[in-house]
Amino acid sequence: MLISKQLRKIIEKEQTGIFNRYLQEKDNWEEHLYKTKEFIQLELESCKYNSVAILGSGWLLDLPMDFLIQKFEKIMLVDIVHPNAIQNKYKKYSNVEFIEFDLSAKFQSILEKNEQETLLDWPFQADVVISVNLLSQLVELPQDYMKLDFDLVLFAEIQSNHIHNLKKCEKFILISDIIEHQHLGAEIRDIMLVYCEIPLCMKKKEWTWNFDNSGKYFDKADKVEKTVFAFAN
Ligand SMILES: C[S@@+](CC[C@H](N)C(=O)[O-])C[C@H]1O[C@@H](n2cnc3c(N)ncnc32)[C@H](O)[C@@H]1O
Repeated sequence: MLISKQLRKIIEKEQTGIFNRYLQEKDNWEEHLYKTKEFIQLELESCKYNSVAILGSGWLLDLPMDFLIQKFEKIMLVDIVHPNAIQNKYKKYSNVEFIEFDLSAKFQSILEKNEQETLLDWPFQADVVISVNLLSQLVELPQDYMKLDFDLVLFAEIQSNHIHNLKKCEKFILISDIIEHQHLGAEIRDIMLVYCEIPLCMKKKEWTWNFDNSGKYFDKADKVEKTVFAFAN
C-alpha cells in the first residue's frame, strides 16, 4: 500500500516521539515491556504454528524477537511505516518480511477529508496474529497528529473492526493500553482509550504501565500511568 509523503512524515514524527519517550522513561517502561514479551512468549511457546504477523511492530520494543525468529518459519512485521533502523537490522533474516499497511484503512481518507474509504481486508495471512500496543494508537494518531476532532462513532468503528479481524484468526494475541490515568496533584483523572466492546472473556492478564514520570506528556499531569490488558484466544 502506497501512502503519501505527508502521511509518512506524520507517522515518522510520531514514531520518533515514541522512541524518545522510551529513552527518557526506559527504567519505568521496563516492567511493561517485559510483561508484554513474556505474555507473547508464554502464549506461543508450545504452539505448532508456522507463520506470525505482528501488527504495529514499530521499533519492536515490546516483542521477543529472538524467540519469534527461532520459532516461526515466517514473521510478517506490519506497520503503516517501518523505521529505517529496524528494516536495516532485520533485513538479513530471510524469514522476516516487512509489510506497510494502514491497519485502520482510514488515515489517508482522514487526511484528505474523503469520506469514501471503506475498511480493507488485511493483505496478509498468518497462523498467529499479534496486535501489540496498537489498538489505542489507531485512533490517537489521527487526533494528535492530524488534529481530527474526537469522533466516537468513527473511532469505535476503527477499533471494533480491528478486534473483529483479530477474532477471525486461528490464534490471536491482543495487548493494548485501555485506560490512561493522569495524576493531577491529589486527583487522578481516568481516560478511556478504547471506545468499542472488548473481548473481556478472552482477557488473561492486566498490568500497569508507568508511562510518563517527567510531567511532559500531558501538561497538567505529574505522571501518567496506563492500564494494559492482554487477550488471547
Ligand atoms: C505504540 S507503537 C506500538 C509499539 C511498537 N511495537 C514499538 O515497539 O514501537 C504503535 C505502532 O503502531 C503503528 N501504527 C499506528 N497506527 C497504525 C495504522 N493505522 N496502521 C499500521 N500501523 C499503525 C505506529 O506506526 C507505531 O509503530
